[in-house]
Amino acid sequence: MDSIIGWLPAPFGGQAVNGSSTRLNAYIRACVILGGLLLVVYQPFPLNTQHLPGLAVLGLLIFVSEYLAVPLPRGGGSVSVSSPLIYTAIIVYGIREATWLACVASISISELSARLPLTAFLFNRAAITISTVAGGIAYELSNGQPGSLDLRHGFGPLFVCALTYTAINGGLVLLAMMIQKGKSVTSLWVTNFRWSLPSLLAVTPLAGIMAFVLIRSGPMSIALFFLPLLAARHSFGRYVELRKVFIQTIKALVQTLDAKDPYTRGHSERVAYWASTIARKLNLPEQDIELLEYIGLLHDVGKIGISDAVLKKPGIYTKQEYSEMKAHPVLGAEIISGITLLGKGATWVKYHHERHDGTGFPEGLKGDDIPLGARIIAVADAFDAMTSDRPYKNAMSLEQAREELKRCSGSQFDPRIVQVMLTCTEGLQQCEDKTDAVPKTSHQYTEI
Ligand SMILES: [Fe+2]
Ligand SMILES: [Fe+2]
Repeated sequence: MDSIIGWLPAPFGGQAVNGSSTRLNAYIRACVILGGLLLVVYQPFPLNTQHLPGLAVLGLLIFVSEYLAVPLPRGGGSVSVSSPLIYTAIIVYGIREATWLACVASISISELSARLPLTAFLFNRAAITISTVAGGIAYELSNGQPGSLDLRHGFGPLFVCALTYTAINGGLVLLAMMIQKGKSVTSLWVTNFRWSLPSLLAVTPLAGIMAFVLIRSGPMSIALFFLPLLAARHSFGRYVELRKVFIQTIKALVQTLDAKDPYTRGHSERVAYWASTIARKLNLPEQDIELLEYIGLLHDVGKIGISDAVLKKPGIYTKQEYSEMKAHPVLGAEIISGITLLGKGATWVKYHHERHDGTGFPEGLKGDDIPLGARIIAVADAFDAMTSDRPYKNAMSLEQAREELKRCSGSQFDPRIVQVMLTCTEGLQQCEDKTDAVPKTSHQYTEI
C-alpha cells in the first residue's frame, strides 16, 4: 500500500495552503488534534532497545520510499510504496512503535527543507498517525498477534489492517481535496486513487513475508524485499508519465486550433465545462464525465484542417464554403481516433453536429442513434455559441439563450439534455447586460 504521506492533496504537496478556506483549516486542525492525541496515547517511552535495529532499517526504507514517491495526476499529491513497510512494523512491533516509526520516517525531503508550510507538515504527520493507529487496531481486533506471524493464518489480519489503513488514509486525503477543490469524492477518487489501488493491494502480502523474515532472520534480511517494492513504484511512475503525455497531447491540439482560429479561443474550455457539468447532473460514470471534459476541449479540432479563408470568413458562407466547414467533425474524429485513451470520444466528435430530428450532419442520425456524448456536446456547444460574441452576431443574454434551448428542444436537441442544461443554468448571473443583443440568425445555434 502507499503511505499516508503518499496520498497528499495538492496544497500539502508543495503549494501554500489557502488561508481563506476556513473549512479546510478547521478540518486540518481537527486532524492535527486527533493525531497529536493518538501520539500522546501511544507515547514511545520506555523504549525497547531490542527493536531499534529493525525500526532503523524499516525507517530508512520508508524514508527512501517517500523520496521516490510518484506525483499524482492533476496536482493531486503523490503515491509511494511505503505502506507495506508500515504494516510490517505493525505486525512485528505493534501499534506504538509502528505509529512513531511511520510518523517520523515518512517525513519527506520537501518537509525537511521547509518548502512546505507548517500546516501542511502537521496535517501530513497527523494523517499518517491516524491511519497507522487505525490499521494497527484493525490488525489486533482481527486476532493479529504483534511479534509473531503465522504464515498460514496471519494474512487475514494483515489484509484487514491494509484495507483499514488504506480507507482511512485515502478518506482523510480525499476529504481535504474535496473541501479544497470543491469536487466530488467520486471524481477525485477516480482521477487520483482508483488506478493505484489494485497494485498497492497486490504488494500487501509482501508485508507478511517481510515480517516473517524480520522475526526469523533479523533486520538486514528485509532490505532484499525493497526491490519488489521499487518495481511497483516504477510501474506507478510509468502510468503517471503516460497520462502526462496524454494530457499534453490534448493541450497541444487545443493550442493549435486556438492559434488558427482566435474566435474559438475559450470556446473549447467552456464547452468542456458545460459538457462535464451536464454529464455529472445525468449521473454518468466518472470515466465518461472525464472523457466529456477532454472531448469538449477537442470537439472542433477538425477545424485545423479547414482553410483560413473559410474559417475566418466573417460573412455568410457560400454553399461550397459551408460544405467545407461541415467536414470538421469527421476530420476531428479522424485526428483523435489515433489517441487510444480517448476511446469512444472520436464518435462524439464525429456526431456533435447531428440534430435530434435527423437533419444534422455528417450522417443525419436521429434521436438516440446519436451517441449520448455527442448529444451532450451539441447542447454545450450551442449554448456557448449563443452566449458568445462572434463577428457575424452579438451574444444573446442568458435568458434569451435559455429560451432558445427550449424552442429547439426536440428538434435540434435531445429534450432530456436541454432540461438538464436549463437546470444547470438556473440562477446563473449574466456577466454583463446583453439584453439588447439580438442574434442575426436563429435557425441553428451551433458553432460550426
Ligand atoms: Fe464548437
Ligand atoms: Fe463544431
